[in-house]
Amino acid sequence: MPDDVVITEALIDALRSSRHVCVLTGSGISAESGVPTFREAQSGLWEKYDPQQLATPEAFVDDPALIWKWYRWRRDLVTKVEPNAGHRALVDLQAYVNEFTLITQNVDGLHQRAGSQNVIEFHGNLFEDRCFVEGCVVTNSKDSSDEVPTCPACGGNLRPGVVWFGEAIPKNALHDATKAASDCDLFFSIGTSSLVWPAAGLAETARANGATIVEINPKSTPLSSMSNFCFNDLAGTVLPELLLRLRASG
Ligand code: APR
Repeated sequence: MPDDVVITEALIDALRSSRHVCVLTGSGISAESGVPTFREAQSGLWEKYDPQQLATPEAFVDDPALIWKWYRWRRDLVTKVEPNAGHRALVDLQAYVNEFTLITQNVDGLHQRAGSQNVIEFHGNLFEDRCFVEGCVVTNSKDSSDEVPTCPACGGNLRPGVVWFGEAIPKNALHDATKAASDCDLFFSIGTSSLVWPAAGLAETARANGATIVEINPKSTPLSSMSNFCFNDLAGTVLPELLLRLRASG
């Protein structure tokens, strides 16, 4: 057992007696798979690239070819990596607790590839194509490597199915995530800087409804001081350990 991960009986009891566990993940849970986070010094995507030039609808209107080049690079990167121990531990946790809701800000699909079911994709999905004009999902679009794909129905440009800055969260995702956060009695915030709203508000919604808050992040965030349990460590270290302890507790 890594000697710096202390999992108390209190947390195991909270998990065992939990009626509804709700988990929110961010890019940190995919970092150990080799997917860059957004805001970490040096390695974060927004340290290297300007989000205003790559992740807004206005930027897409200005230069759709540039945007597609960048998202194809991200798709290619994600296709080449595998889910890690943190993703896999959440699949096991889902099977272990009474009711479980997994909300992710990640667009990489690694939770689903690990086997997680009914994942709420709060910021959309990297591998989905949507018509920029009609907003609908388009499947089987002809994707050649350097052109901007177009909608077979209206001829408009297709765009990656992710939520860009200044855009609303998909209605169903927002509704389901808020409902789960309001209903849960144990809320995990894993691998997120808790800076981007409305996702960053879900933990506060859970806390306002009496839930116990658990944060897993090597760095402190605005949520740390409000958390009942805080693990300043990697998700791929803490989560498998938590499952081991849970199993050992019978
Ligand atoms: N385990 C747990 N946490 C980690 C790990 C790890 N192995 N590695 C890094 N972290 C933490 C970092 O300390 C940081 O606090 O993950 C966090 C990642 O924060 P951000 O880069 O801000 O990413 P995220 O919170 O997911 O961003 C939210 O912002 O750019 C938009 O739409 C994008 O969904 C994204 C949203």
